Formats: sequence, C-alpha cells, structure tokens
Amino acid sequence: MPNNDKPIGVFDSGLGGLTVARAISHALPHESITYVGDTKRCPYGPRDQAEVRLFVRQVGAWLERRDVKFVVVACNTATAAGLDVLQRALDVPVIGVIEPGARAAVQATRTRRVGVLATQGSVDSGAYPSAIHMLDAGVGVTQQAAPVFVDIVERKLTSGECLHKEWMRDRGVFDAPDVRLAVEQGVAPLMNRGIDTVVLGCTHFPLLSRQIRAALGDGVRIVSSAEETCRELAETLERRGDLASADNEPTYRFASTSDDITSFAVAGSFIFGHDLDSIEHIDVEDLEALADERDMEGN
Ligand code: DGL
Repeated sequence: MPNNDKPIGVFDSGLGGLTVARAISHALPHESITYVGDTKRCPYGPRDQAEVRLFVRQVGAWLERRDVKFVVVACNTATAAGLDVLQRALDVPVIGVIEPGARAAVQATRTRRVGVLATQGSVDSGAYPSAIHMLDAGVGVTQQAAPVFVDIVERKLTSGECLHKEWMRDRGVFDAPDVRLAVEQGVAPLMNRGIDTVVLGCTHFPLLSRQIRAALGDGVRIVSSAEETCRELAETLERRGDLASADNEPTYRFASTSDDITSFAVAGSFIFGHDLDSIEHIDVEDLEALADERDMEGN
C-alpha cells in the first residue's frame, strides 16, 4: 500500500474519541482510519498520570504494528499524560487534542476569560492553562472537572436499551432529566465569572454539547477540539505531502478492549455515523506485552 493511503490511527479511552474520528472522516473523506477504544480501562480521568502514560504507550505500540501513517491521541487525558512520550517513541507524527482546543478558545474569546470542562486528570495536569497561556498569557482560565459526564456518556450509550439502533438514532438519548441536572451541576462553577468561551476538554463531552449549551446559556461559545484537531491533522498531512490519494477507498477499522463488543459497536455506530461492521477485540494483556516488547520506557 502506498504510504499516503495507510490509515490514520486514532485512540481514546473509550467511545469519546469517535467524535474526533467522525470529524476526520467528514473533513478528509479519502483517509482511512484505525480506531482503538480502550474501553476496558475507561475512564482514564481518575487515574494516575504515570498509569495513563503507560496505557498511551501500549496503544501507540499497537497502532504502530498496524502500520498507521499518523496518530491522533483523541483523548485529552491521554494527551495531557503521554503525548510527549508517544511523540518520542513513534516514527510517525503524533498530535493530541489539547493544543488545537486551546488555540480555538484563545481565538474565540472576547472577554479573555475561558472555561475548561475536562476530566480530573486533565485538570490536575494543568495542560490546558499552560497551552492557553503559551498563546496568550493574559487570558484567564477557570478549569472544572466533570468526570460524571464521561460516566453518563459511556453508561447511557452502552446500556441495554441503547442496543436498539432505532432508539439510538433518535438523538434523545441524553435528553433526560437526570442528565440535564448533572450537566447543570457540572457547569455551575463556570457561571457568573465573565467567561464567554468554554472548551470541551474531553472528547466525550461533545456528545452532551446540546445539554451543556443549554446549561451555559446563549452568551457562551462552546469550543470542541474535534474540529480544531482535524484542521491541524489536515494541514500537517498536506504540508508533509501525506494526504491520501483522491481515488483511495477509505477503510474504517475499529478495535476495543471492551468485553462487550456488541455494545461498543452499537454505541460506536451512533457516534461515528456509520455502522461499525467489524470490531476487533484487543486483550489488555496483549497490549501490556506489546509495550514491554517495544521497550519504549525512557524513549
Ligand atoms: N475522552 C477522554 C478525554 O478526552 C476522557 C474519558 C476518560 O476519563 O477516560 O479526556
């Protein structure tokens, strides 16, 4: 296969990164994608940074074996913990989702006060404030951890009733009073602070964007890193001369560490917007062995 037509590797702790994969498939329709959701070990958010870094190296090693031409770390928590490690370890370019999201927020804010909704791991890492301040040191940043949002997305989308595709397609899946309340409580600390732009600093959160938008009110702009990351990916591929050829028939492959591949397939189809026909199951033990084998420690 010509190098340009090799797939782009995309990964997340679970389903959230499919929001990025979907944006890539829309913006770059000739590109093939190989997606990994490390669902068995989701959520990454409450985990120790060193542990997440190890997971990032393991999934990165798996994608490398699949001969991807580029890796997108479609998880903010994984980006915060391990982007640099993976960039040093792999021969292909690796980008994350934090810098593109930060750039979009800095460009969008007029009050120069930005809110960041993210996982606990991303908040604790301070990756968003530092990425924002690299671009504009004068922008005030208020971070808020909203781990319950990840839980809502993973739980609601993989619960029994969601196995009915027709019901899933009715996007009312998150239009429920319990979700509305949880979202209102989650965003409350960002209210009345002069914030006019909020970054969805977790790739699961765009799935709740309607509820988040309603809770924040009309005056607040929501920035999702999916589109911004996609833009950076497209620019990089173009500059490197690595864009897939115009006659490339893209393939979309999915793999997950989930024990319940059926739920992953149904929920994934809902997010990705196409049926996830075949999903490969990855054993966590295999991932661990692969990273040991690659011995990326210290790279
Ligand atoms: N999707 C991940 C992110 O963007 C978070 C989910 C998790 O906690 O594993 O940070």
